[in-house]
Amino acid sequence: MEVAATVAEMRALRRAMAGDVGLVPTMGYLHEGHLSLVRTARRRDDHVVVSIFVNPTQFGPGEDFERYPRDPERDLALLRRERVDAVLLPSVEELYPEGDSTFVEVAGITEVLEGVHRPGHFRGVTTVVAKLFHIVQPRRAYFGRKDAQQLLVIRKLVRDLHFDVEVVAMPTVREPDGLAMSSRNAYLSPREREAALVLSRALRGAGELFAAGERDGERLRASMRDVIAQEPLAQVDYVSVADGETLRELDRLEGPALASLAVRIGAVRLIDNVTLE
Ligand code: PAJ
Repeated sequence: MEVAATVAEMRALRRAMAGDVGLVPTMGYLHEGHLSLVRTARRRDDHVVVSIFVNPTQFGPGEDFERYPRDPERDLALLRRERVDAVLLPSVEELYPEGDSTFVEVAGITEVLEGVHRPGHFRGVTTVVAKLFHIVQPRRAYFGRKDAQQLLVIRKLVRDLHFDVEVVAMPTVREPDGLAMSSRNAYLSPREREAALVLSRALRGAGELFAAGERDGERLRASMRDVIAQEPLAQVDYVSVADGETLRELDRLEGPALASLAVRIGAVRLIDNVTLE
């Protein structure tokens, strides 16, 4: 496995790759969710490239950029075991050279849900993903449904800017008790780890109501708020039942819908979602 710290090194590695290249963009501190993307790329593509980069432009002021968990040595060991061909592990200065002033911004779908609570977040995501696509030139890129809005934003970016990249969506990998895997779970104290189960519990409740025939958006949202209100450590950022494509909040569910939520457990902000269809 080769490790590229610079754009030039990555480009040289890329030029030596024949056939399809699969890219898995990450911010590192890898868990089974990330590795499920890597394994699927390994099966589908001739070469697999993983990027590890804690992207400063997608963090707001007062967010957790500085304390975001990092362990590149452990990450590289995990990726070596998955037979990844190349890892791009650049510095901030390498991806954002001195004087950098170009951003890529998707309008519309970025202005709801996460976009309301994390202004500028998606502009940072689409900017860095556009840079990664240009540097790695993948045939396919793998993203998790855990970040459902990010997935829709990336699909829009690819369509609007004519990137010749197939976006592959992968299911959310969960802990045995239902908690969606996330690098940020490392922040949780044992008591908070327990409290964090309200996210998946609320979504499971909404899923059960939906399966029993409930099609009223507000009643589904209220059911999730009720579950979260029972956990004293939990504070809702948003609870949403929205159209699965446009993310517009729904009064009545007709096509596929996305139930999603963002909840603060103490100081730790977690997100999760399920599709209702
Ligand atoms: P990060 O949070 O490290 O996630 C990298 C990829 O792993 C994303 O596509 C994310 O959706 C996926 N992922 C995370 N947890 C998952 C889980 N439990 N199950 C399945 N997939 C999961 O998302 C980012 O980094 C960044 O925004 C990035 C796209 C790399 C741009 O900086």
